[in-house]
Amino acid sequence: MQTTLSSLSSFSPLPSFAQAADWKLCQGDALALLGHLPAGRFELVVADPPYFLSNGGYTCRGGRRVPVAKGGWDVSAGMEADLAFTHGWLKACRRLLSAEGSLWVSGTQHNIFMVGFVLQQLGYRLLNTITWYKPNASPNLSCRYFTHSTELLLWAAPLAKGKQRHVFNYALMKQLNGNKQMRDVWALPKTGEEELSAEGEGKLWSFTRPSKEEKRFGTHPTQKPLALMKRIIEAASQPGAWVLDPFCGSGTTGVAALETGRRFIGVDAELSSLELARRRLEAVRRPPGALGRGGQSFEEAAL
Ligand SMILES: C[S@@+](CC[C@H](N)C(=O)[O-])C[C@H]1O[C@@H](n2cnc3c(N)ncnc32)[C@H](O)[C@@H]1O
Repeated sequence: MQTTLSSLSSFSPLPSFAQAADWKLCQGDALALLGHLPAGRFELVVADPPYFLSNGGYTCRGGRRVPVAKGGWDVSAGMEADLAFTHGWLKACRRLLSAEGSLWVSGTQHNIFMVGFVLQQLGYRLLNTITWYKPNASPNLSCRYFTHSTELLLWAAPLAKGKQRHVFNYALMKQLNGNKQMRDVWALPKTGEEELSAEGEGKLWSFTRPSKEEKRFGTHPTQKPLALMKRIIEAASQPGAWVLDPFCGSGTTGVAALETGRRFIGVDAELSSLELARRRLEAVRRPPGALGRGGQSFEEAAL
């Protein structure tokens, strides 16, 4: 997108909680902060928003019945308020996407239908619904439902007049999948435990939960596996691109972005999450030449 000097001057950079040459963390309410970023700079937005799960229910952890209590931020404020919140941040993200940009949102049945509805209301085109299969899901305690063992990832881009222009690194995904087209059901293996699917077609990935290594700087109640975020970033952005996560938590999207040679801005309301994200981002090793490879600096991108 073409940006004039006058349109840049109306945006002052967001105050950072912490930053380096290719990443920045900002503290505050996503809805308030996203409005301060200039339009059209992000090739990719990856959002792992509140699922509105923490409403007095129980789950099973380590064989014990424990309350689902991820944090105050995960409590539903009622259907109308949740819808208004979802509409607000998805609208803000749409403005930030570049012409080739796209957005990923994770969720479960608690929030994802609302997200899908609002995306379509706002003029996004749904590109895929990825089902992330979790082989080590917690058992269902009530025995009145099937055991929940998946999360969904909606991939969407602003609806284009002609052909959709979103980045999709098709060839790389195919190569990662044993030279077979990658499908929309993902499961991640532990490193070295990749297996072939029942038909012998490509690899069946079974991404489990984050490894101990991924939690060495501390824990976040909803930390995503690094391999999952790397898959998304490698699929839908080019090296050097700016990636935004408006609910960055422990910074997994940022770690994946930097490890794959992208740049990152993360927003979170909670200082404890940002502190953990900062520790993780400071420890990332970039691929050789990542910073010199081109792509805009903070100043050039007016971020
Ligand atoms: C599901 S977690 C993200 C976890 C992250 N993907 C990771 O791997 O660690 C959602 C995060 O959003 C933050 N959050 C919730 N509501 C927010 C808001 N209105 N603005 C900014 N951050 C918010 C929470 O503090 C929480 O860390």
